[in-house]
Amino acid sequence: MALFITFEGGEGSGKSSALAKIVEVFKEKNIPFILTREPGGTPIGEEIRDILLSSQNENMDIRTEALLFAASRRQHLTKRIWPALEKNVYVLCDRYLDSSLAYQGAARKLGIETVYEINRFATEDSLPDLTFFFDITPEEGLARIAKNKGREVNRLDKETLDFHHAVYDGYIELCKKFPKRIIRIDASQELDKVVSDCLIILKERMSEL
Ligand code: TYD
Repeated sequence: MALFITFEGGEGSGKSSALAKIVEVFKEKNIPFILTREPGGTPIGEEIRDILLSSQNENMDIRTEALLFAASRRQHLTKRIWPALEKNVYVLCDRYLDSSLAYQGAARKLGIETVYEINRFATEDSLPDLTFFFDITPEEGLARIAKNKGREVNRLDKETLDFHHAVYDGYIELCKKFPKRIIRIDASQELDKVVSDCLIILKERMSEL
């Protein structure tokens, strides 16, 4: 059975770079997979993403924000994630439900339980089989972003350091809430070490690797 695997972390945690390398391993081993992301992953989801991340939308209400992330997720699940899993294709997803719990639940202070409830409607309780949390302090993560000048700065990147600390604390709480599903990876290490730590865990769960 193919697995639904998500990658989570704060800004500048390096999860997207690690994912790109993990994808190379899946390709080498001819393991069927899709690589996708949230918000987005479908045409409708990408339109919702533009609304969510546009720096012009500073006026967005926080419940509107939570609902739009959940709406994008619903579309993604029904049109891409579930169909892939049904065909026994692995799903590698850059952010998913835990991002909403950490960003909207913890950092926006809607409450992890409240945001979880909204998302239960959106996802019908579809949780990933495995989640990697890329653990790096907000200071280190934001310093990495500052160095990477080519990267586009979105509405959430512009939040205060306190906000990013609250996101981080939210993720730590989620690691405690879902200890079996969420695996913490030390993302302050060199990229190659981060990738090999992920692969060690993946090899334990996947006979194909
Ligand atoms: P993106 O450029 O994809 O960020 P990153 O490279 O850090 O993954 O932007 C996604 C932003 O949206 C990011 O700041 C996290 C935020 N987000 C939420 O607040 N809630 C969510 O449910 C999701 C999926 C993302």
